[in-house]
Amino acid sequence: MSTSDAPTPRRVRVHHLQAAKERGERLTMLTAYDAVTARIFDDAGIDMLLVGDSIGNTMHGHLTTLPVTLDEIIVAARAVAGAARRAFVVADLPFGTYEAGPEQALASAVRVMKETGVAAVKLEGGERSVPQIRALSQAGIPVVAHLGYTPQSENALGGPRVQGRGHAAEQISQDAVAVTDAGAVAIVLEMVPAPVAARITEVVRVPTIGIGAGPQCDGQVLVWVDMAGMGDWTPRFAKRFGEIGAALTAAARDYADEVRSGTFPAAGHAFDA
Ligand code: KIV
Repeated sequence: MSTSDAPTPRRVRVHHLQAAKERGERLTMLTAYDAVTARIFDDAGIDMLLVGDSIGNTMHGHLTTLPVTLDEIIVAARAVAGAARRAFVVADLPFGTYEAGPEQALASAVRVMKETGVAAVKLEGGERSVPQIRALSQAGIPVVAHLGYTPQSENALGGPRVQGRGHAAEQISQDAVAVTDAGAVAIVLEMVPAPVAARITEVVRVPTIGIGAGPQCDGQVLVWVDMAGMGDWTPRFAKRFGEIGAALTAAARDYADEVRSGTFPAAGHAFDA
């Protein structure tokens, strides 16, 4: 039976995230930016797909996530949500679409929910984003918070640097409690020292999803191009689970060689009159 004929799997929903934490089951999350990869990761059993604003640096050729627009996230999120049959799909609210306050955040999140079919939105920031998280939660929109290294603030943070060392650990823990109290359904912890992430994971009732935050988070997220080994460089906290970039280069070279030599297309690839 082909994958598309397989019975529709049970959709991961917001209460399953909480239940997974309570049962001590680790959650898996990957970014996805299109229908092709969304279907592959969904079939592989990845629990959560994140239409991250990392689409800016991974797919759109920007140096940062800052130029990504709401319209760009909406197009990608619609493709991912349309392709995923089981995964809980989360879309990032890009830089500039929620910082002005709860009204702006609500307008942006309502557009995402109406136009894409995702199950939740993600936004960056701790105590500063509490009014936004509260407003979205009260409107029935599940929110994933994002603490630690927050790429939308990379200019203020001085680039990708570990957050929450020393005295700063206390602030991140307070942020985690504040976003949970405001209604966040999960918290992404990015580049946070492992013991700090472990402590937060113990203290908050919602699942923590780590990226460069050690093994004791309730789940892990990776940017899929890092996970799959698409480029030459991999962040220290990521692991290459494949060499898909090299495999793709080899396939493209073989294709070009066969076209140039006249081996492809063969008789079987052509149509009779
Ligand atoms: O945009 C993104 O890919 C993210 C992950 C790094 C968590 O926010």
